[in-house]
Amino acid sequence: MINFKVNEERCIQCGKCVGDCFPRIIAMEQGEYPAILEEEKCIRCQHCLAICPTAAISILGIDPDASMPIAHELPTSHSMETLIKARRSVRKYKKQGLEADVIKRLLETAWHAPTGVNTQGVLFTATMNADVTEALRQEIYTKLGEMLPGLDPEEDDMGIKYMRMSHGAYTKYGVDVILRDAPHILIASTPKSVPTPKEDALIALTSFEIMAQTMGVGTLWNGMLKWCFSDYFPELATRLGVPEDHAIGYSMVFGRPAVQYARTVQRTAPPMNLIEKF
Ligand SMILES: Cc1cc2nc3c(=O)[nH]c(=O)nc-3n(C[C@H](O)[C@H](O)[C@H](O)COP(=O)(O)O)c2cc1C
Ligand code: SF4
Ligand code: SF4
Repeated sequence: MINFKVNEERCIQCGKCVGDCFPRIIAMEQGEYPAILEEEKCIRCQHCLAICPTAAISILGIDPDASMPIAHELPTSHSMETLIKARRSVRKYKKQGLEADVIKRLLETAWHAPTGVNTQGVLFTATMNADVTEALRQEIYTKLGEMLPGLDPEEDDMGIKYMRMSHGAYTKYGVDVILRDAPHILIASTPKSVPTPKEDALIALTSFEIMAQTMGVGTLWNGMLKWCFSDYFPELATRLGVPEDHAIGYSMVFGRPAVQYARTVQRTAPPMNLIEKF
């Protein structure tokens, strides 16, 4: 049941909801109000609710008046450009964890990222305080200490080489190259059965990262941690609550940065295929 309702006192019969429905299941006869044709084809995207200029549509039991207004609320192109160009991989963090409300707001915002066929299958698994992250950190290095001596160094691939180096740095110098001493980790996983599992997870994490900066939170895309969860110690991901039928899209660490960047980096011009004729 998608519970599609049109408030006839508000509807001005503009037809915008009809035109923006991707599976084209909203119809409006001359002089009538919009109606749903094939409910089972609805992908629950809420475009009908979002596009209606008079907030006349409710779907899935959602009150359109409770949506955030968009007009005059978007960041300027300059502030967005600064945000994207000022993003840095943060490798030094303050020890103290973030308030739970901050983490939940970041995740709730990232949850609005697009997903293939609107499946909304991304599961965020986050450590909520520095103590639980510390326990995880110690377990990862302990497990590496058990695993690495049994492997033939002649056959090390890139991942294992990094793991040997990281384990050595941690045990000899107390330097945490894998989690970078961050107070939080984040895994985005998706059911393997959704149409675009990897993409959905990566887009969600990208959204998380962009929003994080606006709240003074630094992030690091973390390939070494991802290897630990998906290749070396999948039982750790399971213990954290990642379901067995999920694929791990990627992992991040995050927290308050202990570094501050004064300016953006300067990259060379991007490779561009700019097609003028075809
Ligand atoms: C990886 C990926 C692939 C997608 N492929 C298509 C596509 O081929 N055609 C299309 O119309 N929409 C496509 N979409 C858009 C989704 O259907 C859309 O994100 C979803 O319905 C939610 O709507 P929203 O992005 O407006 O929130 C894709 C989205 C993602 C993330
Ligand atoms: S939620 Fe999306 S697919 Fe469903 S009726 Fe509205 S616009 Fe169409
Ligand atoms: S977009 Fe809103 S006002 Fe326009 S036809 Fe649909 S329900 Fe009516």
